[in-house]
Formats: sequence, structure tokens, C-alpha cells
Amino acid sequence: MNVNSLITKDYIKYDDFAVRKNKPNSKPISSKAKMNANAFSQKDYENVRLHRRRENKPNQTRSKAEIPTGELLGILKPGTNQTQRLSEFFLFFTFLGASYNPAMQNWTIQKLLNWITEYFTERGIDSPRLNAELLLSHVVGLKRIELYTQFEKIVAKEQLDRLHDLVKRAGQHEPIAYIIGRTEFYSLQLYVTPDCMIPRPETELLVERAIEFLRKRSSRHFVCDLGTGSGCIAIAIARNYPDADITATDISEAALKIAAKNIEKYQLGDRIRLLCGDLFDPIMSQPDVDEFDLIVCNPPYVSAVEFEKLDKTIKDYEPKLALYAGEDGLDICRRIVKKVDQLLKSDAALMLEVGYNQGQAVRELLEQAKCFSEITIEKDFSNNDRVVTARKI
Ligand SMILES: C[S@@+](CC[C@H](N)C(=O)[O-])C[C@H]1O[C@@H](n2cnc3c(N)ncnc32)[C@H](O)[C@@H]1O
Repeated sequence: MNVNSLITKDYIKYDDFAVRKNKPNSKPISSKAKMNANAFSQKDYENVRLHRRRENKPNQTRSKAEIPTGELLGILKPGTNQTQRLSEFFLFFTFLGASYNPAMQNWTIQKLLNWITEYFTERGIDSPRLNAELLLSHVVGLKRIELYTQFEKIVAKEQLDRLHDLVKRAGQHEPIAYIIGRTEFYSLQLYVTPDCMIPRPETELLVERAIEFLRKRSSRHFVCDLGTGSGCIAIAIARNYPDADITATDISEAALKIAAKNIEKYQLGDRIRLLCGDLFDPIMSQPDVDEFDLIVCNPPYVSAVEFEKLDKTIKDYEPKLALYAGEDGLDICRRIVKKVDQLLKSDAALMLEVGYNQGQAVRELLEQAKCFSEITIEKDFSNNDRVVTARKI
């Protein structure tokens, strides 16, 4: 890679790669993360890192002690005089503090992007550059790519005030998706709030398999999405398979309100119906109980030990109800497998998202049920167990 010809794309890849490198099992924020990270080697990563350092500190011949702290942090350009240096340095730190006064300086998109990235890096926020771009583009009302074409644009005071609050929240590990109120999933823009789990890129694999399955059968199909949360799986299937008639359920009324908003956004109200209740109960209590051609579910699957170790960004902000599933993380799965055959047509499919090491345990549960064949476990792009599929005999 030529480090002098770096473009936005490389920075985005760099961020995705950095996340995976540091936390191989973590969930990258960008839905393109898997492609980006896979297309990026350790050598590219080192190159970009070096390039970034040089961008901020071109005079590499000076010893560390000779370089002002502001330059070391990438805040100051080399060559600024002492007075400028002190005032810029002061402004950077006060940007996030109470005495921040935006009128004192012309804040360009480029300056803000660099400084927020540094701030997130210092605070151990995943994908610092990507998250800085997401926040900034949200506040200034530009697409991420447009930030780079308007680098010198001066950001208005009201926008700076807003940005200041949002950067502070993100610095305390609040998920960016909740801060900006939306996320991307399967090329859809979905509303999210702390009432629903933030859809993850890994879940796109489940959606892909579901759409493939339906397309092979090519007729009108009844699909159930158990534990729909934001509605992401149901909406992605409905948008990509026009003959799917979907029932989406969740035990959380608050989550269903978000799902309803997303369904309305994509005008799918006539094809997705929402039911509230515990697993299959709300379906069973309908006057005409449906049998489905496909049941998909991304259940809660975090075990007790894993829950304690979860990243602060997840544990402190996302609903526990969407994550935790008993001692071994299989409580919900067990309950689904016990009852699901009553609601599946013969030859219909069950597709479950599972935890990184749960494939075999879920396969055994399905085998014990004695009503499934063709049980498969599929790994995701991080080589973790991710989707278990079974066919009703
Ligand atoms: C892991 S989240 C998945 C959300 C969404 N489908 C997604 O993929 O982003 C699990 C969802 O199941 C719901 N849930 C938990 N226990 C449930 C139960 N007993 N019955 C129905 N839904 C449940 C949670 O409220 C949450 O929305």
C-alpha cells in the first residue's frame, strides 16, 4: 500500500481491522467490516499507523523529548509558535470540558475529526475514526464520505455545542448507535433506542440464509421472527423476498414500538405483523394458529460468566433481556427447541443464531428433539459458530 495515497476507504478499513485485531470476537460496527478487515493485512495496518503518525508529526528525526506534547498527541501541527501552541492545546482539552468556548476558534471538519478520533483512542473506544465520522456526520448533516470533500468547512457554533455533548457521551462508552438513534443493517437504516438491541453485522448471515431458503421455494411463505427487537431480521427478509408473510414477536413491548417505527419507515405494515409475548405464546393464542415455512430467531444467548465480562458499551446500555440467557446461555434456545415443531410445516426450516461456541450444544438439543434432519452449523467471518439450521422431518 502506498501510504501517501491513503483515502477514506483505507482509514475505514484501518478502523475495522484495528477492532478485529484487538478483539477478535468483538462485533465491528460497520456492516462492511468483514470485507474491510479481511482485505486489510497486518502490514497495511502498520503502514496506516505510521502514516497517521507522520501526518501529525512529520519531523521524525527529533527525539520524543524535543517534540511538544500537543504534537505527540497529534493535536498541533509542527511549526506553530508557542502562543498558538498553548492556546490550541488549551482549546482541545477545554473542548470537552466546562470552559469550552467555540467562539474562540474556527473549528473545521478536519480538525474536529482528528481531535475526536484522538479523544476516542485515548478512551479506548472501538473504531475511533469510524465513530468520530459517524458522530460528526450526524451533527453536521453530511454523509461520511462528504466529510472528506468538505474538510475545510467551518462547523457552526450550535453544531459544535451539540457535538460537544455527544462526544462526551460516547467517551463514556455509550454506543454511538444509541447516541445518533440509528444504525445500518443489511443496507437498511434502522431506528434504535436503548429499548432494543443494536443489530449486529453477524446477524446478516442469518438473514442471508433465510432469504436463500425462501428463494429456492419461490412461492408465498409464512415466516416467523422470534424476538424481533428492532425488527431488523423481519424487515430485511420482507424487503428481499416480496412473498414473505411475516409474524414477528417479542416479549418487550418497548422493543416492539421501535420495530413498528422501522416497519412503518419501510412501509411493510401489510406484510409484517407484530405480536407481544413470551416466545410462541402470542402465536398460539391467535384464533387461527399459523404453521410456518421458516422460523428464524436471534435469541439471547449470553451465559452468566460471559455477561459479567461483557464490554461496558454493551453491558451498561443494551437491554439485559436481549442478551442474557441463563447459566450456560442456552435457556431460550432450549425452550424454543422444545416447542418449535408444533409450529413448523413438514420440510420447513428453523434457523437460529448462536453464540461463538454454542453450535454443537444447539445441534445436540435439536437431535434430542428427534423431529429434525439436515442439522448444520455455519461459522461467521471471525470463524465463530453463528447460524444453526435444521429441517423439520
Ligand atoms: C438478541 S436480541 C435479537 C433482537 C433482533 N432480532 C436482532 O437480531 O437484533 C433477542 C430479542 O429477544 C427478545 N426476547 C427475550 N426473551 C424473550 C422471550 N421469552 N420471548 C420473546 N422474546 C424474547 C428480546 O427482547 C430481544 O429483543
